[in-house]
Amino acid sequence: MKFSGLVSCLAVVGATVAAPGRKDKHLPTTKIANIEVINTPLVQDAVKLVKNFIPLQPYLYNHLMRSWLYGAAAFNNNATLKASVDLELHAIGTLLHDLGWDMRPDSPWHSP
Ligand SMILES: *[C@@H]1O[C@H](CO)[C@@H](O)[C@H](O)[C@H]1NC(C)=O
Repeated sequence: MKFSGLVSCLAVVGATVAAPGRKDKHLPTTKIANIEVINTPLVQDAVKLVKNFIPLQPYLYNHLMRSWLYGAAAFNNNATLKASVDLELHAIGTLLHDLGWDMRPDSPWHSP
């Protein structure tokens, strides 16, 4: 596993155990594909960032959004699980988990 893959896995795993007691229910939400998702400024910025991939690698943007929405849909159908997860961290972890795939030398996502 490449280093970036390891970091990605750790980010997503971290999202599932972080910040117990955080009151995500007070944070703003919106709906995407009829799935309720958290909608904080940080999440909006992450979505904006991954949208940069649409002209370059459309499959990557779609994969990142599906990853986030799949998890959000699972949380929305299990209140116990949803209460134990930092939904903002989950959103950021899933949205950014594959940015290391962009291996172009001029990629803005990694330094030389
Ligand atoms: C909901 O999530 C909890 C915690 O992960 C789990 O123990 C429980 O089995 C889940 N309930 C359902 C109906 O999947």
